[in-house]
Amino acid sequence: MKKNEARIKASEITPRELFYARRRFMQLAAGASAAALLPESVLAGDKLADVKTSAYTLPDKLTPMEDVTRYNNFYEFGTDKEDPAKNAGRLKTRPWTVTVEGEVNKPKVFDIDELLKLAPLEERIYRLRCVEAWSMVVPWVGFSLAELIKRVEPTGNARFVEFISLHDPEQMPGQKFSVLEWPYREGLRMDEAMHPLTLLAVGLYGEVLPNQNGAPVRVVIPWKYGFKSAKSIVRILFAEKQPVSSWTQSAPGEYGFYANVNPAVDHPRWSQAKERRIGEFLKRKTLPFNGYADQVAHLYTGMDLIKNF
Ligand code: MTE
Repeated sequence: MKKNEARIKASEITPRELFYARRRFMQLAAGASAAALLPESVLAGDKLADVKTSAYTLPDKLTPMEDVTRYNNFYEFGTDKEDPAKNAGRLKTRPWTVTVEGEVNKPKVFDIDELLKLAPLEERIYRLRCVEAWSMVVPWVGFSLAELIKRVEPTGNARFVEFISLHDPEQMPGQKFSVLEWPYREGLRMDEAMHPLTLLAVGLYGEVLPNQNGAPVRVVIPWKYGFKSAKSIVRILFAEKQPVSSWTQSAPGEYGFYANVNPAVDHPRWSQAKERRIGEFLKRKTLPFNGYADQVAHLYTGMDLIKNF
């Protein structure tokens, strides 16, 4: 099978209802009756073809898919952890485009299916540490954001990259409440965005990203608090000025632009020294840069990381 053919989803070549009916049947046949009871948003993951394992792996135990897809922060679908799994099923992820513009020589509107083919898909096992002091270990699928950045040729003025999530209150009921200023926005410095660890993620556990995890495309920046990892991205904007992210805008004293995982800098309302790995009882010590110091600490040489939290 040729590469492009391999990426055609089974749901595109069989009528959708039939596809899901067959899937449920296969799950039942496999004895996975618990899985058959999950809402469709959890089941909707189609297998991604041609995913290579990568050097990005960890000795840590993986967080079960059930937890990765049922314990989420995605305020566009509600503020409770179970809300995204319950409410994100209605998000339409096709057609979907990602507009890449600003300080670039080659601005481009990428169709999501074109974006998926920009570079070989890799499975990368990353730790994700939320600012709320819990963490997960997730086998993401995607490729380095740098692959996309190279193609649009940033100009010499591009010092920052901003990620903008979908704004559509009809599909995203949480946007009818002003818990944050919509759309959700996050940003990185250019060297952070170009770092090979910075992942453009399109899947997890070998399947297309479930909606509640940020389908069809999100970023994952494993050395930063989870809120930097914007979901359901529709626009990537290169700029000379440092962007203001949604969380910094809502509480500048609590959520800084850098948001590097740092056990030595407490959140004003709680300690960041320890974390609870989802599924574990005892807390673990939080590691500087979430355990990725060897790869990324040099990006911040000479910077005061207490001021630049
Ligand atoms: N992106 C958008 N658009 N909206 C959000 O509410 N929450 C962030 C981040 N990205 C969020 C978002 C936070 S706080 C975390 S911890 C991670 O997504 C959670 O990702 P996960 O649900 O896939 O574990």
